Formats: sequence, C-alpha cells, structure tokens
Amino acid sequence: MNAKTQNTVIVTVNGTEVDAAPGELLIHVAARAGADVPTLCHDPRLDPMGSCRMCLVEIEGQRRLQPACAWHVTDGMDVTTESDRIERHRQTLLSMYMADHAIDEATKLPQQRGVGNELLDLVLKHGTGPELTHIGTPREGREDNNPYIHFDPEACIACARCVRYCDEVEAVSAITLAGRGAKTTIATADQIGLLDSTCEMCGGCIDTCPTGAMTEKPSLKAPEPEKVVRSTCNFCGVGCQLDLHVADDQVVRITSPEPGTTLNDGNLCIKGRFSYEFIHHEDRLTTPMIRRDGVLEPASWDEAIEYAAKGLMGVRDRHGADALGFVSSSRCTGEENYLVQKLSRAAFGTNNCHQCAAT
Ligand code: SF4
Ligand code: SF4
Ligand code: FES
Repeated sequence: MNAKTQNTVIVTVNGTEVDAAPGELLIHVAARAGADVPTLCHDPRLDPMGSCRMCLVEIEGQRRLQPACAWHVTDGMDVTTESDRIERHRQTLLSMYMADHAIDEATKLPQQRGVGNELLDLVLKHGTGPELTHIGTPREGREDNNPYIHFDPEACIACARCVRYCDEVEAVSAITLAGRGAKTTIATADQIGLLDSTCEMCGGCIDTCPTGAMTEKPSLKAPEPEKVVRSTCNFCGVGCQLDLHVADDQVVRITSPEPGTTLNDGNLCIKGRFSYEFIHHEDRLTTPMIRRDGVLEPASWDEAIEYAAKGLMGVRDRHGADALGFVSSSRCTGEENYLVQKLSRAAFGTNNCHQCAAT
C-alpha cells in the first residue's frame, strides 16, 4: 500500500498503485508501474507534443483514449494501458502510418535504416489492423550535400522529434516542419542546405528520429555491425560516453547511449558522433617515432620515453629548469593532466606548466 504525502499523489496503473509527483507525466508513472506503453513522438528530453497518438491509454472518467506522454497525473487516477480497445487503436494507427511510409518491398515492413527503427519494432510487436491502400504522397525531397546527415522524406512520420530536439536541446532551431497535411516534411528555413543553415551538425536529430528518416550518411553503406562497445570520447575532457559499432574490427558508426543512462544524456557533438574515420586512417601513427639523423624511425615506448627524458634533462642541465615548459591537453583525463603538472614541478622543477583548456 502506497502512502500519500503532501508531495505525492497515488495513481493506479493496471491495478497497481504507484506514488507520483503531482503533475508528473503519466508515461513516466506508468513505466514505474511496469507498463510498457508504446511511443513514437516521445523523447524524455523534450517537452511533450502528443502528436503521434501511439501512447493512448484508458483513463477512468475520460470518454476518449488519452495520450500518456502528455497527460499529467492527479491523485486517484485509474489508468489502463492494455485492453482490446487500446490494442485495436494501436493496430489501426500502425496501419495508417504504414500506408504512407517507405516500405521494404521484400518484407512489406518499414525499412530498417541506421540504428533501430521504433516504427518497425512496434509493427512487429503489435501487428497492424486493416490493410490500407498505400498513398505514397510525394514530399519535397531536399537535395543536401552535407556530408553527415541523410534525410528520407518517405520514411518521415512528422513526429517532430528532430525539430524539437534541435530547438529545445541544441537551441539551434535549424530545421522545421514544412508543408501541410500528407505533404508535411522536414526542411530548413528557405529550403537551404544544412551546411548553409545554423545547424551545428551535432547529429541529435538522427539520434532521436524513431524511423531512420534522418540517418547518418557515412555509415549508410557500412557493413552491419557485429558488436557495440561502450567507450569514452577523447575529443575533450567532458567524458561523454559513446557506443562504438564495430564490423570487421573497424568502427563503422558511433552513437550515444540512451538518454538518462550516462552523463551526456543521449547527446553528442559533431566530433564525438561523426569523427571516427581517423581511427583506421593509413596516415595515423601507431607507434612512437624517434628522429635520428633527421629521419623518423619507429621506436618502442620505452626507447621513446627514455629519449625524451634525456633530451629534457639536457635542456634543464644546460639552461636551467625554467627553460622548459609543459603543455597538456584538454583531451587528456583529469588524472593525466595532474601527472603532467607533477612531472613539470616535481621531476623537472619548473612551474612552467599549462593546459590548453585554461586559455
Ligand atoms: S544536426 Fe543538430 S543542429 Fe543540425 S539540424 Fe540536427 S539537431 Fe539541429
Ligand atoms: S525526420 Fe524523424 S524525427 Fe524528424 S519528424 Fe521525421 S520521423 Fe520524426
Ligand atoms: S508518444 Fe504520446 S502522442 Fe506520441
């Protein structure tokens, strides 16, 4: 039995009582009660929009089904998330989405593009209702030569997650819903390319898109990943978590872990999300090099460290410790930066140490 306090209300979901904050969104309360309410336009990082109608549930006293993602709970609410009526609604809605969506001809299912396809998952889980004639409304397809983001208007369900992410999380507002009715699509103001707009190429629109209508261009032709490895971005010291998608021992795509699971909350910047080609670039140094008689030669780490230490000690002995300066990088961890200043002060005796992020 849950106890109501001044700061909680009690809501019943599928017969289970749960505590909730007054005004909390029903979708979160239902999840705590163990209910699996399907969504398409919902992203926990964004203000509710209630546009896709996938999350409709029964609320005692309400004649119509209501959207769990946009409904604020009140004390004593009695909610049902699974019933024949709700399942009929879900199947009919999925039929309507499928009737105006890019379909994989072989499977007659929504195309799998990029990472995950929430619409495809829902069709596979709930099935569809009446078979509706495919509309195939031609939408404005914007030619965009930007190197990172591919947009497929036929796969877009106009949920506006990309638009709201760009607006509410990035505060950039580079894209918008354009057109009306079945011709609604995603575009930039004045239909200019993303590179000419205010877009920062963070790729958050790709990440939130539930259908793959917005996809990462470079990885479109990449082989199917065999595994996903969690890692930490080393482009700056924030420490954003990354999921590296690996095929044939090569990183073929980078995504962010789910919102709410790591410190970057599902967000990445252009470098963290798209800059991975360097990892396997043929010009990349994979071993230390020592210049001997003007020629760079591969060396072991022990040789290289000893060589550098001798050179630095030689300068100190000839010109004094303050002839040396140590500069570390914001790409290093806090511990590594600490060690550089320790090396500078304790090992060589100079306070000439700096870190690039300090300027
Ligand atoms: S890449 Fe980022 S800034 Fe550009 S449109 Fe997408 S969300 Fe907006
Ligand atoms: S591109 Fe994706 S996120 Fe944007 S409106 Fe279309 S389906 Fe939704
Ligand atoms: S997820 Fe609730 S209306 Fe779209």
